[in-house]
Order: sequence, then structure tokens, then C-alpha cells
Amino acid sequence: MSVTSGKVALRAEGVSLGYERRLIIEGLSIDIAPGAVTAIIGPNGCGKSTLLRGLGRLLKPSAGEVQLDGKPIGSISTRQVATRLSILPQNPSAPAGLTVSDLVSRGRHPRQRWYQQFSRADESVIREALEATDIADLAEVPIEELSGGQQQRAWISMVLAQQSEILLLDEPTTYLDLAHQVEVLQLVSRLNRELGRTIVMVLHDISLAARYADHMVAMKGGRIVASGTPAEVVTEEHLLEIFGLEASVVTEPMAGRPHVIPLTTG
Ligand SMILES: Nc1ncnc2c1ncn2[C@@H]1O[C@H](COP(=O)(O)OP(=O)(O)OP(=O)(O)O)[C@@H](O)[C@H]1O
Ligand SMILES: [Mg+2]
Repeated sequence: MSVTSGKVALRAEGVSLGYERRLIIEGLSIDIAPGAVTAIIGPNGCGKSTLLRGLGRLLKPSAGEVQLDGKPIGSISTRQVATRLSILPQNPSAPAGLTVSDLVSRGRHPRQRWYQQFSRADESVIREALEATDIADLAEVPIEELSGGQQQRAWISMVLAQQSEILLLDEPTTYLDLAHQVEVLQLVSRLNRELGRTIVMVLHDISLAARYADHMVAMKGGRIVASGTPAEVVTEEHLLEIFGLEASVVTEPMAGRPHVIPLTTG
């Protein structure tokens, strides 16, 4: 299990986050449960990616504070943050010509020193990361020549190669066919169970989120409107309130998790 068990590894306290002209999130507080899988859901534009960027230090709060291991994240060196936490942005972009293996190797950079070549251990971490997402055979292909789903898997491999304790994943299943969506979520779940990794992921598929998350956070208009277990968050009332969606929530028989069936009219 994670060395941070029992403590809050990542916390936002009264954070306001936004962009030059507009504040998106105001005075939001959240504790990320260590060693758990947290899924953030909510409609397009509600601030999920903005919150994740704030938690991952890609965006500086205009008020409040994000803390990593009890310290203001802004006071920790970039290299140190990168060994504790990795973030998969929603629309990552790679320089032209960069191959899959170049990209995944970059995940090792925070752990290397200028005098150090790639070690055998680095090589094996990279190979395992490529195999975990099923793209080892594409290692020498430039990123821009991959399909959307293959690119997504290459980015996930880079995050895996970082071997950090906390993974912030913004829609890790976009572009993936259903089998690969399930594969990625099972991989995430395995990292959590076997290595005690703390996972925070933004997902649009609420039923899949409910299936794989220990904890769910629902956002609307830059605010957290519900948080708790999947059964507490995924209710017909919340779906109507958060998405304006009329749906029936049933319990799926295998894992006993809530499953959303949207109701159609007309
Ligand atoms: N770089 C930016 N500059 C200015 N405004 C931005 C920027 N990124 C996002 N926004 C605005 O912030 C708001 C929240 O965006 P955010 O990307 O956090 O939403 P989201 O919940 O992740 O949505 P989605 O489900 O579509 O990914 C939106 O209104 C968006 O227009
Ligand atoms: Mg987003």
C-alpha cells in the first residue's frame, strides 16, 4: 500500500481557478483519498479539466492552495512534483516526429540525473509501460502517424513510465474502442489495488466510472454538487440536476454498481 495511507496526499483548500478573463472555479475544496480511485464526472465545460490542472500544478490558483503531502504544491520543485504525481491532460500534444518510445521515455526524465544514461531498469519500465497498453509493436512509429486510440494509449504509457504515486487522468478512455476502454480501466484498477496508486480520473461514461471508482465527485458550473460512493452520487435525482438527463439507474448484477439507462422520449 501507499506510504501515504491514512493521510491526505493531495488536497485543494478554497481554490479559485480560471483563465485570463474568467474565473471558472471559486473557493473549491477537495481531499483526494490516498490509495483510492476517484472519478470526476460532470457536463462539458463544468470545470473538470480546470480542477485537474489545478491539482496537477499546471494551473496556479488565484486564491486558496493546493497541497501535496501537506505542503503547498507551489513550494515543491517541478522535478519532485513529477516524481510524486503525473498528469495526463485531455488533449496532449507531442512534437512532430517524436516516436512512441521517445514519448514513453520522457516519463523517466524526472527520475534521471544529467550524468545518468538510461539504465537497464529504465528500459524495462518503458517496455512494461508499452506492453501494459498494448502498443509495444508501435514503439518506433511517430505519434502523429497513430490513430486517436493508439495515441491515447501511448500517452497513458508515458504516465505509467513515470511510476508516480498519484495519477491524474483527464478522460483516459477518449478515442478508445470499448475493449480498450475496459482494458485501460482495468489497468488503472490494478495499479490501484496492487501498487496502492492514488488515481483521480475524469470520465464521461458514468456507468463505467461507477464500476471502477471507489469515490465519485460530480461537478456542475465549477462547483462540486455531489461526492461519495458511486451509489450515493449516481442517482436519478443527481443525473437530472447535474446533466438535465432523465435516466433510470439500475444496479448492474456483476459488481453491484449503479448503471445508467438514459430515458428517451418521443
Ligand atoms: N485555456 C483556456 N482559456 C480560457 N478559458 C478556458 C480554457 N480552458 C477552458 N476554459 C473554459 O473553462 C470552462 C471549463 O473548462 P474545462 O475544460 O475545465 O471543462 P470540462 O469540465 O473539462 O469540460 P469537457 O467535459 O468538455 O472536457 C469552460 O467554459 C471553458 O470554456
Ligand atoms: Mg475536460
